[in-house]
Amino acid sequence: MSLRGFIFCCLIAISIAQDETNNKFFPEDFLFGAATASYQVEGAWDEDGKGENIWDRFTHSYPELIANNDTGDVACDSYHKYKEDVAMLKELGVDFYRFSLSWSRILPTGFVNKVNLPGVTYYKNLIKELKDNGIEPLITMYHWDLPQPLQDLGGWTSEVVVEAFAEYARLNFELFGDNVKYWLTFNEPKQTCLLGYGQGMFAPGIASPGIGEYICTHHVIEAHARAWHIYDQEFRTTQNGQVSITIDTSWFEPATDSEEDAAAAERSLQFTYGWYANAIYNSDYPEIMKTRIAERSLAEGFNQSRLPAFTDEEISYISGTFDFMGVNIYTSFIAEAMDEVPIGEPNYNYDLGVKSYQLDDWESCAASWLKVTPWGMRKILNWLKKTYNNPKIIITENGIADDGSTLEDDQRVRYYRDYLSNVRSAMEDGVNVIGYTAWSLMDNFEWLGGYTQKFGLFQVDFDNINRTRTPKSSVAYYKKVVETHCLVDTCEA
Ligand code: NOJ
Repeated sequence: MSLRGFIFCCLIAISIAQDETNNKFFPEDFLFGAATASYQVEGAWDEDGKGENIWDRFTHSYPELIANNDTGDVACDSYHKYKEDVAMLKELGVDFYRFSLSWSRILPTGFVNKVNLPGVTYYKNLIKELKDNGIEPLITMYHWDLPQPLQDLGGWTSEVVVEAFAEYARLNFELFGDNVKYWLTFNEPKQTCLLGYGQGMFAPGIASPGIGEYICTHHVIEAHARAWHIYDQEFRTTQNGQVSITIDTSWFEPATDSEEDAAAAERSLQFTYGWYANAIYNSDYPEIMKTRIAERSLAEGFNQSRLPAFTDEEISYISGTFDFMGVNIYTSFIAEAMDEVPIGEPNYNYDLGVKSYQLDDWESCAASWLKVTPWGMRKILNWLKKTYNNPKIIITENGIADDGSTLEDDQRVRYYRDYLSNVRSAMEDGVNVIGYTAWSLMDNFEWLGGYTQKFGLFQVDFDNINRTRTPKSSVAYYKKVVETHCLVDTCEA
């Protein structure tokens, strides 16, 4: 049988085995939420004293890189319409709203010497509106929108930014912490570092492959640990909240049952989730990354590994800096062992050395990278349990894009049902999932995709000055799930 044929048969078998929607109730205290992020929804990019951030600069300087030359200048106008956003959350009945703070709205220069009061007031009002409606805020401090003045000092390749982030985090705890139970320091740092400082496709657009992404990651991990310790030492006893980081990963399915492909799949997981998670949930970078990158670096003529090293003191300072585990999950890939890539230019993908791809017959959606693979959800959750000693997990993002042609988003309804079904099955496997977050509350600025890829439960009319919000069919389904804690018409008691 051909390789593709083999994979196809295995995956058909998996999907037949998992076709039935799980009909067990989610536990009563299971948390359901919906998410957005500052640059993607707020707009008001230069209003009321907000400073410029790297996505403002990137979209304004390189409009041709974004679909339709779109920007986040106005986005969903949530800076002015936050009460409508909270009304939509209330309509869904969710337990929490995951949103992010715009660092430059609070600190226009990035540093704490100049606090922008209207920005602080905006977030205080949003938090109050949420609490008044019985919705908990789950706040991300950094969802990719670094203040431009900090980028001018080197951005995440500079230690200066680690210190600035620690101070920004302390200020956030001081300003908002009395009303916040759940904090995330960083969202999907791999995208910040790999795409922003390695490949140069995302803001700030620095192309330094095989070098920039590793330096960036080193600083992000340090900054996360600083923030967690600040909370732990200065705020935990009075505020009693929980702090973590959210890291994205796909599931990687070995192409065959060979040892090489199994190792390639595991290596992919270690180079994506483990790159950030191992230092925090276990200790130090994954061994496989340390070994491969050191070997390749020396062969390339460097005197040391391109992967920076933590000192022993740093390793123990970083290890354990979490109160729960955050994970964003959307899709899966097949991982196939690749012949060793000849030594040449430094590159993260060569360091990884895996050929990964998706199968043509996997269901697609309006975002080309996102194929519908609900079975991957159960597998990745089990992998997280095994690899990180069964932590408490909040799925901080999961969702699918439509093209905006209809409000009858049946595909999204199926997507949520089938992914949630696999979450519930993973819980039966013993995975300690305590919460789930739909991405996204509403259509918004999808980075390079602009407004063409629509992830919202609610549609937003970007041609209308009022940015009118309208529920899609998936609102009714998610609302029912949140209310009943059940994915089907009747669940087993
Ligand atoms: C990950 C990111 O956190 C979010 O900003 C993005 O819109 C979604 N995934 C969908 O791509």
